[in-house]
Parts: sequence; structure tokens; C-alpha cells
Amino acid sequence: MAVLLAGGAGYIGSHTAIEMIEAGMEVVVVDNFYNSDPEAIRRVEEITGRKIALYEADVADKEAMRRVFAEQSIDTVVHFAGMKAVGESVEKPVMYYRNNLDSTLTLLEVMKEYDCNRFIFSSSATVYGEPDSLPLSEAAPKKSVNCPYGWTKWMIEQILTDAVAADDKLSVVLLRYFNPVGAHKSGRIGEDPKGIPNNLFPFIAQVAVGRRDHLNLFGNDYPTPDGTCIRDYIHVVDLAKGHVAAARYAAEHKGCEIINLGTGNGYSVLEMIHAFEEATGIPIPYEIAPRRAGDLPVSYACADKAEKLLGWKAELTLTDMCRDTWNWQSKNPNGYREEEV
Ligand code: UFG
Repeated sequence: MAVLLAGGAGYIGSHTAIEMIEAGMEVVVVDNFYNSDPEAIRRVEEITGRKIALYEADVADKEAMRRVFAEQSIDTVVHFAGMKAVGESVEKPVMYYRNNLDSTLTLLEVMKEYDCNRFIFSSSATVYGEPDSLPLSEAAPKKSVNCPYGWTKWMIEQILTDAVAADDKLSVVLLRYFNPVGAHKSGRIGEDPKGIPNNLFPFIAQVAVGRRDHLNLFGNDYPTPDGTCIRDYIHVVDLAKGHVAAARYAAEHKGCEIINLGTGNGYSVLEMIHAFEEATGIPIPYEIAPRRAGDLPVSYACADKAEKLLGWKAELTLTDMCRDTWNWQSKNPNGYREEEV
């Protein structure tokens, strides 16, 4: 039996493929390479020494997904496929709702046809909205979110919750990611955003490698000790291992569980810049810029439920996150492409 990684060529999917293969699981990848590169899967094969069944298809394409399920014995689906840029989602909301919701609905329908009952979803801490208290535990209410991208996560969680309520064979795990950073220790795979990075760490990495001359630090007047926003950064390899644990959990339990994947530690933007400089010896010039719309001052996880239910907790350090990001970016200055685009 195999685990289907929908969107498995992306940043989190490709790291999860490695951890699953190393844990003895078989994986099948479907990806349309809209925001990913087939080279990532070639490198996963190189790292693991295993050939991966790879389908180039849109997860929302029902006929294509039926072919995958007909050809492979799939018992678990991990749904990473989705558009994820906050700003773009504000400009193109219909495209975001169409794409992110359709792919989920198609997966659910095709899974039912093939009696596949385990679904792990890439959700986001964004569904918590503005926290009433910290750390954020899974018991905290879902609130209004700040962009269509966030609403797609919010809505897909609701769709999956309702689907479970109506089907007692289904097992769903909603993984709420905090801020994934870092790369595989080989430096062969990592985060490779197209265009100007939206997120902090890929931006810092591109400044370090000389693709951008400085970082704009969005706001230093937040109510935090150094005035910059605090987030729970988690190493992508720890995050990937959380998916291995979630897939095992889904095999043994029915129903729907919400599980945070974070470390439980918060670091400010300035602390992240300094940690990167210290771990790599490379200075990161930055300029203070206005606040970015929608940013919360502080967000970090309570990670207890993951440890209790999945037997998983994050192990890698902030230094590991910085060193591994730099190892990837310095060896692949233009990501998976050979030339700068
Ligand atoms: N930041 C900068 N400069 C940059 C990029 C980011 O100062 O060039 C700051 C942001 O203002 C924020 C912090 O770095 O304070 C982290 O920003 P990221 O964009 O890396 O991460 P976010 O916490 O904003 O985003 C994450 C996920 C999104 C999700 C969002 C919910 O990456 O998928 O949380 O708010 F939607």
C-alpha cells in the first residue's frame, strides 16, 4: 500500500517523501509543477535510492486522479497541493477558492470511489486568526482570517470535518503548520519560491546569496520585546516527520483530529536575522519598512497534543534551521534552475 502525496514535489511534500521512504513507506506523487519543479523528485530519488511513481497532473482533475488510484494501491492521501501566497490570494480570490477547494473535493470523491479512507491535510495556524491567549492550542477557536488563502484552509478544514461526520470509515488529520523553514541536510532539496519570496527565510537566504541586496523588515513597533513580530519557526524535516507520525496515527484511528505542528518556541524577526548571521557568518543588511497588512504581532504553538497523540515533537534547533537553509541556498543559488530567472 502507498501514501499519495498530492503536491508532493513542493517544499514540504518533497521533504515528507524522503522521511516517509526512510520510515519504510511507499509513496506516489501527483503534482502539476505549477509552483514546484520535477527536479525536486529526481533529487528525492537520488537521496533515497528509490524510484518514485510520479504523475504530472492537476489534483483537481478527476479523470487523472482516477487513473492514479486505479494504477496504485493507495491507503492514505496527504494533501499538500494548493496555492499559498497571501498577497496573490487577495488579488485573485476566485482562482484560490477554485483551485484549493476543488482539489480537496476531487480527492474526497475519488478516495470514496476507491475505498481509501485516510486523509492528512496541510492546514495552517492562520485559521486561529488573532489569538486570545498564547501558546495557541488546538482548543482555541477558529476565527476570522486575513486573506482568501487563509479562508481556503479554514473552509477545507470545515469540509473535511463534515465529511468525517457523515462517514464513519474516514480518518482525517488536520495538521496546522506554524512557520516551516530549513532544508534537508544534504542541501539537495529546499524551498524554491518563484519570483520575489513572500516569506522571511527564503528572503533572508536570497539576500545572503546576493540575489537581493537587503531585507525589508516589516514593522519594528509591535508590542513585543524588540518591536518585531514573533513566530514559531519549525525545521521542515521535523515537520515532514510529523506527517509520518500522522499517517501512522490515521491508520489506527477514525474521526477527525486537529494537530499543531510547531516547536512551541517563538522568535522575533530580529532574532531570526541574528541567528542566521551567527550560524553562517554572513551579514544580512535590512531596512525597517512599514508594517505588512494582516501580520499578527505574536503567534506560537502549544505542541503538547502532537507529542501526546502522535509521539512526535520537533527536535532540530534554530541553528539547524539557519545552517540547513544556507547549505541549500549556497549550493543552489537559483534554486532548481541553473540560471537566474
Ligand atoms: N517579514 C519581513 N520581511 C519579509 C518577509 C517577512 O519582515 O520580507 C516578517 C513578517 O512581517 C512576519 C515574519 O517576517 O513578521 C514572518 O513572515 P512570513 O511571511 O515568513 O510568515 P507569516 O507568519 O506571515 O506567514 C505564515 C505562513 C502563511 C500563512 C501565514 C498566516 O507562511 O502561509 O503565516 O498569517 F498564511
